[in-house]
Amino acid sequence: MIDLQNISYSYPGSRTAALRGVSFQLAPGEKIALMGANGSGKTTLVRCINRLLKPSGTGSVDGYALDREEDLWEIRRRVGMVFQNPDNQIVATTVVREIAFGLENLGLGQAVMKERVESALEKFHLQSLRETSPHLLSGGERQRLACASVWVMDPRYLILDEPTSLLDPQGREEIMVFIDQARHESNAGVLIVTQYPEEALDADRLLIMHAGRLIMDDLPAHVFSHERKLKSMGLGLPVEVELDRLLGSTM
Ligand SMILES: Nc1ncnc2c1ncn2[C@@H]1O[C@H](COP(=O)(O)OP(=O)(O)OP(=O)(O)O)[C@@H](O)[C@H]1O
Ligand SMILES: [Mg+2]
Repeated sequence: MIDLQNISYSYPGSRTAALRGVSFQLAPGEKIALMGANGSGKTTLVRCINRLLKPSGTGSVDGYALDREEDLWEIRRRVGMVFQNPDNQIVATTVVREIAFGLENLGLGQAVMKERVESALEKFHLQSLRETSPHLLSGGERQRLACASVWVMDPRYLILDEPTSLLDPQGREEIMVFIDQARHESNAGVLIVTQYPEEALDADRLLIMHAGRLIMDDLPAHVFSHERKLKSMGLGLPVEVELDRLLGSTM
């Protein structure tokens, strides 16, 4: 279980808090979607979960405390992160090395490691790019690489910050399938930040952030019933819901 209690954070030198008293829990096997306007604090929250930022408040991952230095390695091993800007994540000189990078610290045998890396290349359609420098990839290819690098680690929790923003519809669909598999086959808990309401529809809960606060935490269908409130924050409804409304009102 990821458990955050009353997390607040202000960037150094900033007068306004980017996060204000946020609490939420993510259980294994659960999918939570997180939406909110630009600047509402979504990425800041994600960065607090693996302590890239040090917020006030308390938090833990499977009982490992966020503010305990000796727990940090275990937390980062359990929580796989796909960042909003895939460039920030790249550390190696080729695609295949990038995927293998995180695995090297897990103490797996050479054969197991090789097999997992090959599966990742295949699963995320990166075989033909295996010796390419990650910096030469397109944005969408880099997002697929970021997902592959996290998938090989088989993390207990997947935190994805707008992982499909640079992908075409087919690429988006593939990432959604990958997320579902992680949930159902490995019982991973998933937090997905998204600007696509469609990607939130099948979540167990949908969280809405506004100006650093979590202002809604409910079933997606309930959240999407607050149409006017969402639209006032610049958030849309899933196409399916919009269509239902439209047809419902004219037929
Ligand atoms: N490194 C930083 N230093 C100072 N302020 C920052 C920094 N990063 C973000 N902020 C501010 O913190 C607030 C929250 O930003 P954050 O990136 O968490 O928003 P977001 O919801 O992820 O937005 P987006 O939808 O654009 O990704 C914003 O007001 C932003 O300007
Ligand atoms: Mg963001």
